[in-house]
Amino acid sequence: MAKIFTFAQQKGGAGKSTAAAQVAVALAQGGHRVGVIDSDPQGSLAAWWTLRVTADKAVPLSFEQTAGWRLAARVEALAAQTDVVVIDTPPHIETDAKLAVRLADWVIMPLQPSPLDLWACQPTLDLAAGEGRATVLLLNRVPARAKLVEETAAAAAQLPAQLLRTRLGNRTAFAAAMARGMGVGEAAPRTLAAEEVAALAIELDHLPV
Ligand SMILES: Nc1ncnc2c1ncn2[C@@H]1O[C@H](COP(=O)(O)OP(=O)(O)OP(=O)(O)O)[C@@H](O)[C@H]1O
Ligand SMILES: [Mg+2]
Repeated sequence: MAKIFTFAQQKGGAGKSTAAAQVAVALAQGGHRVGVIDSDPQGSLAAWWTLRVTADKAVPLSFEQTAGWRLAARVEALAAQTDVVVIDTPPHIETDAKLAVRLADWVIMPLQPSPLDLWACQPTLDLAAGEGRATVLLLNRVPARAKLVEETAAAAAQLPAQLLRTRLGNRTAFAAAMARGMGVGEAAPRTLAAEEVAALAIELDHLPV
């Protein structure tokens, strides 16, 4: 049975879809069978997947777009055939994201180094706690040098969730890879972006179930 990672964060634009797609490819490049589920009606990963079908990709993935009452059954079916299932969720957490959080072994919450992102964490943390799910925080879009980054990291460390050691930098390579239906490890190997996502995949892989 696969380990299930649900990317959730009420704050729009925190990087849920980007991180989910990038981690999925990196996990697959690490040798795992990976399934991706887009449960967001915005369909960001569905659009990425459409591009991926004809992309010069290095690894296979499975993909489904589903939400609502079908979600649990589809996740279960995909989990039976894979090692890891990555679920992307919409920024409104009350309905669709709640179901996806319930199904998760781990909830991954991306946040950008800004007080606005920090303040927006609590509802998703409460939701995960209410569902009895463990949450890890992922600092995303981290600029090269900024005092605010360490301040955000220190404040995030006070939240009732583990702060992942790996951070994703603010790198155009991520959007560029997304635009090609790829992971950075495929579109731009030997870049810092690819290194970061590979490290993130290893760190997530080591989280206990
Ligand atoms: N590490 C990063 N470096 C540079 N740009 C990034 C990074 N992560 C995300 N972005 C950009 O930030 C924007 C929002 O990212 P994304 O759509 O993944 O967030 P989201 O949380 O899924 O948003 P929504 O809540 O709307 O679903 C996009 O333009 C994306 O390209
Ligand atoms: Mg999204």
